[in-house]
Amino acid sequence: MSRPRILTVFGTRPEAIKLFPLVHALEADDRFESRVCVSAQHRDMLDQVLAIAAISLHHDLDLMTDRQTLDSLTARALMGIGAVLDEERPDWVVVQGDTTTVMAGALAAYYRKIPVCHVEAGLRSGDIHQPWPEEVNRRMVGTFARLHCAPTRAAAEALLRENTNPATVHVTGNTVIDALEWVTKRIEEHPSLAQGLAGLEARFAGKRIIGMTAHRRENFGEGMQNIANGVKRIASRDDVAVICPVHRNPNVRAVMSAELEGLENVALIEPLDYPHFARLLGLSHLMLSDSGGVQEEAPALGKPVLVLRETTERPEGVKAGTAKLVGTNADTIVRETFRLLDDEAAYAEMARAHNPFGDGKSAQRICDLLAESER
Ligand code: UD1
Ligand code: UDP
Repeated sequence: MSRPRILTVFGTRPEAIKLFPLVHALEADDRFESRVCVSAQHRDMLDQVLAIAAISLHHDLDLMTDRQTLDSLTARALMGIGAVLDEERPDWVVVQGDTTTVMAGALAAYYRKIPVCHVEAGLRSGDIHQPWPEEVNRRMVGTFARLHCAPTRAAAEALLRENTNPATVHVTGNTVIDALEWVTKRIEEHPSLAQGLAGLEARFAGKRIIGMTAHRRENFGEGMQNIANGVKRIASRDDVAVICPVHRNPNVRAVMSAELEGLENVALIEPLDYPHFARLLGLSHLMLSDSGGVQEEAPALGKPVLVLRETTERPEGVKAGTAKLVGTNADTIVRETFRLLDDEAAYAEMARAHNPFGDGKSAQRICDLLAESER
């Protein structure tokens, strides 16, 4: 019998980060024929990951357009990925997470009765508008995936509460930890991969560094404005510096530039490649972020993260006390940040390395499940 052909489909930076360990594992495993398709829903931010992880592509749909709409991206991704599936006829389609590419790629597979393996399955905030539209994207994939790779027990339980067939639900850990371990090792072997922040490190010597990222759609407008105002007030202190790699979405850039450009204690910089972002996590005293991935990485490194969202589908960090939801109210963001800066006990309480998300072996577990599961 021929080896099962696995088509891994992704499109954005976080999917690429969380799937490169699996692509590496599939490529090294004789049991499979591994193929890769990117929608390129993101372009430069995706290419940064492809380059560092040395991922070769079999299909690049090059879909990203400036200020793309959800409708247009969804339609083009569905058509484009569908055509790739007709050409490749894979035995499995693997998707990760909850973006438009994930939803459209999984749907195209379902339309062809190709089994879907959903990595990072079972995350639920319980609110279809937060994160928007991701909560619905991942719920939709959860209704028809053949293999649900839940990162944590809580995520698996969420799937079981939705009457998902228990035989298809597995706790694999989150591949983000595999990715973080991989990049950490690469930096140890080749320190030059992460030395590009040296100028900022010198400029901000003696100050405590706060890393900040924000990009969620539901925060656009007032939320993003409040976050920027909060950061401005935090950066008025002499003892801190805020480093913000600014997401390329124009809705983020416009607000951040208008509020924060030129401030002495703020560095607005281009999106960092993964080794440099890992370096920023390491340098930072704490993180302010509305990102999903950062909520998983920061606790693993013992960095407190104040989550710039009203709710989270990743409660594990909050439960462990290493992450705290602070929302997008500027006063709350400033108050909670100052508390961590000024109250040593409060900081120590949060700055414990805690990693509820995985053990760095998730990709191998998913490979084994793909080999063993009925198609
Ligand atoms: C997308 C995902 C979100 C994920 C985030 C990760 C959806 C609906 N949203 O949001 O779930 O958390 O990626 O970052 O799937 N752009 C560039 N270069 C890039 C990337 C983006 O210029 O490399 C700009 C383009 O103008 C693009 C816009 O950002 O049209 C929005 O990109 P899009 O992928 O639609 O949304 P994100 O906000 O990035
Ligand atoms: N990241 C990166 N460079 C940056 C900012 C983030 O490599 O400048 C990484 C980060 O380590 C994490 C992922 O990108 O793994 C998170 O992506 P993002 O915040 O865009 O999306 P989300 O996780 O919220 O879907």
